[in-house]
Amino acid sequence: MLCSKMEGALNSQINAEYYSSYLYLSMAAYFDSINLLGMANWMRVQAQEEMVHVMKFFDFVAERSGRVTLTSIDGPPTDWASPVAAFEAALTHERHISSLINKLVDLALAESDHATNNFLQWFVAEQVEEEATADGIVQQLRLVKDAPGGLFLLDRELSQRTFVPPAATP
Ligand code: FEO
Repeated sequence: MLCSKMEGALNSQINAEYYSSYLYLSMAAYFDSINLLGMANWMRVQAQEEMVHVMKFFDFVAERSGRVTLTSIDGPPTDWASPVAAFEAALTHERHISSLINKLVDLALAESDHATNNFLQWFVAEQVEEEATADGIVQQLRLVKDAPGGLFLLDRELSQRTFVPPAATP
């Protein structure tokens, strides 16, 4: 059974993960609009992954006899100054999500809620990967900044990303 404080915090995280999905879908639309379809694909897959995160929290709250309460999702930005600006915003966002996950862990420990702490460890590891991936793309975009050929190659590389369905995730 979740304490009401933990239940509220997990519900807030459901909203934050939904917002993440919405943000990345907005970035996908941006990349579509400037014909960088590989980057648009990468963002679409990212948006789908965020929905997996939403459902992990949703299912966990339900499993612990908590009550999921959905709230309004803020509108994301719709435009960015450049491809690198969009990926920098993605990296900044992932760092923010990592800090939210860390606060959830702090709360779980303060409440001696070991089950929630254990559940959250998946997200702790996931955030390391999320930040590293976004950071890697930012670094590559900075390198190819003035070379359209490099941008084209990176776009082609990012077109290869595919969504791995939840059943196949550990
Ligand atoms: Fe759900 Fe990208 O963190």
